[in-house]
Amino acid sequence: MNPDIPVQLLGGITAREFLRDYWQKKPLLIRQAIPDFESPIDPDELAGLALEEEIESRLIIENGVRPWELRRGPFAEDEFSKLPETEWTLLVQAVDQFVPEVGELLDNFRFLPSWRIDDVMISYAAPGGSVGPHFDNYDVFLLQGHGKRHWKIGQMCDTDSPLLEHADLRILADFQGTDEWTLEPGDMLYLPPRLAHWGVAVDDCLTYSVGFRAPSAAEVLTHFTDFLSQFMSDEERYTDADAQPVSDPHQIQRDALDRLKALLAEHMSDERLLLTWFGQFMTEPRYPELVVGPELDDAELLDSLEQGAILIRNPSARLAWSEVDEDLLLFASGQSRLLPGRLRELLKLVCSADALHIDNLGHWLADDDGRHLLCELVKQGSLGFADE
Ligand code: SIN
Ligand code: CO
Repeated sequence: MNPDIPVQLLGGITAREFLRDYWQKKPLLIRQAIPDFESPIDPDELAGLALEEEIESRLIIENGVRPWELRRGPFAEDEFSKLPETEWTLLVQAVDQFVPEVGELLDNFRFLPSWRIDDVMISYAAPGGSVGPHFDNYDVFLLQGHGKRHWKIGQMCDTDSPLLEHADLRILADFQGTDEWTLEPGDMLYLPPRLAHWGVAVDDCLTYSVGFRAPSAAEVLTHFTDFLSQFMSDEERYTDADAQPVSDPHQIQRDALDRLKALLAEHMSDERLLLTWFGQFMTEPRYPELVVGPELDDAELLDSLEQGAILIRNPSARLAWSEVDEDLLLFASGQSRLLPGRLRELLKLVCSADALHIDNLGHWLADDDGRHLLCELVKQGSLGFADE
């Protein structure tokens, strides 16, 4: 997409302007980001999802058995009928993976890397319902789906911001409002990480949260070093063949630190391994149990495609690609594959196309590597047959 064309979703500014002025920096209210938006899911359907075993859902009841009572799904149908008339919220995670029309909303965010997107969470709130004033550690676009919600934003927070005493929820003890708006269907509010916010339902309302993800520095370090250690032998150790006689045997001297730093730098600077780890890490599925495929061989796949089969991306799979010298790396749901550079257009197609079939795969099916790649992705569960 052209980063210099005004985007309706961003209120008429360009993707470049949004990234320069707002992304990770400050909030942006966009009236009618999606004009005349009609929620593809209604409150009853959302409640239906919250009954399912494999779907993550929560209920937050402001005046429940205790203040801000948290219940975790799956829920039984009769639980909803026992709720108060007002002041509760049902939150359902990753609806994009279960309702294709919700997944399609993510097409609006193609100006950001898809591997930064976490999920589309949808909340239903009864009048007065809210999850309390809080902050999140990630960027979020809050799209109003149905009814009205009154949003207040406040101060920038951090780990020292005082919280209410609560075993599971991080509700701010002190909210210093700076701005507020009432959002109607199609309106959207972008919030950068750590900005305090508080959304209260004016009437029955549905809010879509398009949430982003970024690994913490601690995660990067622990996961990358774990990954690296798989490639290291026990024989590779701290060495000091260059050691000088010590004046005090109990002292750890500067030269030991320098040797450690050199050891770390040698491994940390391997860009290829860093890229491989990062691509695998960022494409790990949220629900790995939903990314499974059938046994299949290249010839069987070709046969099915020739007979009109359509492959679609598993909505629970994550895909990304990158370049390494002349070659390419495809990351699919936590795994990586090194592929020849000539497969570039196939990789882009696999990552972006809604459907793969004989017409758009064309000559790739005659390419042994191309056909094999498709077969591996089906076996892994990142691609699946449309009618399955
Ligand atoms: C909500 O939809 O009620 C909460 C979303 C959020 O504040 O992150
Ligand atoms: Co939030």
